[in-house]
Amino acid sequence: MRNRYHFSAKKGWINDPNGMIFAGGKYHLFYQYYPDDIKWGPMHWGHATSCNLSDWDEQETALFPDDLGMIFSGSAILDTENVSGFGSKEKPAMVLMYTSHDNEGPTEQQSIAYSTDYIHFEKYEGNPVIKNTPEMSGYKKDFRDPKIVKNTVIGGFTAVFASGDKIEFYHSDDLKNWEKTGEFLPGENGGFGELCECPDLFSLECDGKTYYVLLMSQAIDTSKRDDGHLKFFMQYFYGDFDGKTFTASEGCKKSGPLYPDFGPDNYAAVTFANMREAVMLGWAENWDYVNDTIATDYQGAMTLPRKVSLVETKEGKRLCFEVYVSDKTSLDVRKFSLNPGEKREVVAGKLSLEVTGDEIIVTRDKAFPAHVSGKLDEDAFHIFKSKRFIDGSSDVEVIVDEGLVEIFADGGLNVFTCRI
Ligand code: FRU
Repeated sequence: MRNRYHFSAKKGWINDPNGMIFAGGKYHLFYQYYPDDIKWGPMHWGHATSCNLSDWDEQETALFPDDLGMIFSGSAILDTENVSGFGSKEKPAMVLMYTSHDNEGPTEQQSIAYSTDYIHFEKYEGNPVIKNTPEMSGYKKDFRDPKIVKNTVIGGFTAVFASGDKIEFYHSDDLKNWEKTGEFLPGENGGFGELCECPDLFSLECDGKTYYVLLMSQAIDTSKRDDGHLKFFMQYFYGDFDGKTFTASEGCKKSGPLYPDFGPDNYAAVTFANMREAVMLGWAENWDYVNDTIATDYQGAMTLPRKVSLVETKEGKRLCFEVYVSDKTSLDVRKFSLNPGEKREVVAGKLSLEVTGDEIIVTRDKAFPAHVSGKLDEDAFHIFKSKRFIDGSSDVEVIVDEGLVEIFADGGLNVFTCRI
């Protein structure tokens, strides 16, 4: 049954959220979209808008594949100073930056598109704005998912990219000419260091100081690991951004890897642009099995938006999350408290939650997704664990929808997103 307040397309396939931004009095959500099938295919950017972040109106498709390839993930920014010349100060252009993915190479390059009505988008005639061809030295096979952020340290804009096992930073003053300013290696900073996707960079206050958070999705060779995680998941780092590159703080490096979500179904999550708070939303699926799950007219859903904060715990600084919609009364919210040693069914027969002394354990029914046999017998697909960062009882808030549950345990320090 269709989820009541988690976004899915009316028809067709969706994956990563793209270009999320508050502009023209509305929240905009773009997404990886293949309208003609319920499986991944030639990627477009679908588009939906909302006034309250829980009811979404689907708009016309924003970007279609072209000569440079499919339209892979990216982001949006509001050009309030009209540095691009695509709009005006009175009518700022929304500028989208995305990866043009040409299957032949495969070649991944970065392109831009713009709009002043925020519905109809024009591709820039000078695309790609960041080239990457096999003939060029420094060619990178995986070079994608630009997230543009306003650079409040040195001015202009920074685009954060996933480049193989690295994160790269580019700078621009006009959104058309870009220059590399730095890179960050997750694997050398206490995190996992294989293929990165969909990075994001944003700042948060903690103890009166500003910290930057570098968030990313990862695809990991699970045969090299024995920690029970699936191949696809997200990790984050906190530290400093000097306007050119990101440096993880010592505490972060020592505690890593750090996870924004301990459940299986939150991938490619990034934050909205042009909002005062950091509000994150992700694709509530996992590449490991999404193509094996039952679907009729549409496939893929998004998490609810979550406000992100950075808090000090006994284990060090950790991200903390709470659902962020205008009116929570329209959601099925279940609140309770569990003492260490207690276990509770969250959705009868489908999902349970247990708090031990120092762990939270979520168990999902093995029958999900019903027709995939064998694969789900592995614990990694139905038992999800996180280490606790606080002592004592756990305050839990659970948001239940038809096929998706979001669990915020320990006041939002331990989050699990699970399809059911
Ligand atoms: C992540 C991802 C991105 C890419 C997109 C293609 O889920 O693989 O790296 O841009 O999906 O649909």
